[in-house]
Amino acid sequence: MSSQVVVGTQWGDEGKGKIVDVLAEKADLIVRFQGGDNAGHTVVVNGKKHVLHLLPSGVLHEDATCIIGPGVVCNPFVLLEEMDTLKKGGLSTDHIVISDRAQMLMPYHKVQDALEESANGNRIGTTKRGIGPCYADKYARTGIRFHEFVNFETFKERLKECVTFKNKLFTAVYGAEPMDYDKMVADFAAIHDRIVPMIKETTHLVNDALDQDKRVLFEGAQAAMLDINYGTYPYVTSSSPTSAGVTVGAGVAPSRIKTVCGVVKAYSTRVGEGPFVTELLDEQGEWIRTHGGEYGATTGRPRRCGWLDLLVVKHANMMNGLTDIVITKIDVLTGLEKIKACVGYEIDGKVYDYIPSDQEDVARAKPVYKEFDGWTEDISQMSEYDQLPENAKAYLRFIEEFTGVRISMVSVGPDRVNNIYIHDID
Ligand code: GDP
Ligand code: IMO
Ligand code: MG
Repeated sequence: MSSQVVVGTQWGDEGKGKIVDVLAEKADLIVRFQGGDNAGHTVVVNGKKHVLHLLPSGVLHEDATCIIGPGVVCNPFVLLEEMDTLKKGGLSTDHIVISDRAQMLMPYHKVQDALEESANGNRIGTTKRGIGPCYADKYARTGIRFHEFVNFETFKERLKECVTFKNKLFTAVYGAEPMDYDKMVADFAAIHDRIVPMIKETTHLVNDALDQDKRVLFEGAQAAMLDINYGTYPYVTSSSPTSAGVTVGAGVAPSRIKTVCGVVKAYSTRVGEGPFVTELLDEQGEWIRTHGGEYGATTGRPRRCGWLDLLVVKHANMMNGLTDIVITKIDVLTGLEKIKACVGYEIDGKVYDYIPSDQEDVARAKPVYKEFDGWTEDISQMSEYDQLPENAKAYLRFIEEFTGVRISMVSVGPDRVNNIYIHDID
């Protein structure tokens, strides 16, 4: 049985999309288990860039079945747009399946996200894709699932109920315009015939595949520090982007998960609000942003940049039970005289070797750094670990020692082929 999970270990945008695309080469099934189109995953193949939001990043491998799992909040309009983009590029989309249990992310969720954010002065800095409101409805048990879309007549009744309630909220609480139910019905009617054939019961599909020794790859979006329970709450997303999320979000028992591969960017970035202990607000941070091309794939926002925070990676390891680490974007650090990694937080004179739960404490933390010498050699075309400069190896070795997890692969460029393989990940 091969079941691999790929998760982000920081605040997202570690390069998960690229790594999933590489590992998907051998996969029979690729499953998204949480999140929605708040994700922005860039995959580069032969110099051509593909940006995916809802579709699994393994979608470019047409032989594998790609599943939008039960734990996903899926905006069907965005899904179809993404499929159309792929089709225009000559790629197939026949291998995409939507779980009948997945939540439908509705037009009113997006509106609600924007209204809540602007009423709070953009407190969280969400992607405004409607993710929080859709998960809130899911847990309030008022959400609409994809199986309810199959019968359009009963769907319309459910939609009426929901739009009526949301319109009361939007007008009375936010003083906003009500949404047009008839237009929404027409918009959904226009996509019904394309969406319905993709809706399937996926939990058996995944478990049967595991029973038959097929290779299943579970693709995480977002990352551990954005986890609803263990991230920097309230500056988090509304799902569990960890290996635990696979069990609830794909319907797979914990004992069936074999490999958990954590993607670690060689430095840190964050989009949106919330504490960021190693953030560099000076020209050093700007240097990383420019060299790393650190601008959001979903919102275009400049990403906040800083040194690698190993307390964050350690925290992610505890949450996920990582079996392997993949380091990405280490090529971006080439040319720096000194490189730093955070190994502790100093808060009110006390040094912590873990991340406190109270974000007020984290916001006051000063990073305790270990400093490394940099390198100047261009490493972006290297394919063997031994070719790496000694100083790069020393940095990697320290990450392994600190986290206690082996580094199995090092990504040295955005393209599918820019990798150094160290251990088999399976
Ligand atoms: P994700 O959300 O975790 O999938 O990451 P994103 O795709 O949002 O952001 C990662 C960015 O870095 C993308 O533009 C990738 O093409 C790029 N990238 C991924 N791995 C590497 C790498 O090893 N080196 C460089 N220079 N770029 C990379
Ligand atoms: P990928 O999969 C980086 C952040 C948002 C915001 C917070 C809540 O590309 O790594 P939400 O819209 O989810 O309610 O926003 O989470 N966020 C991400 N940051 N990468 C992502 O996805 C993100 N998805 C959400 O910026 O701070
Ligand atoms: Mg991203």
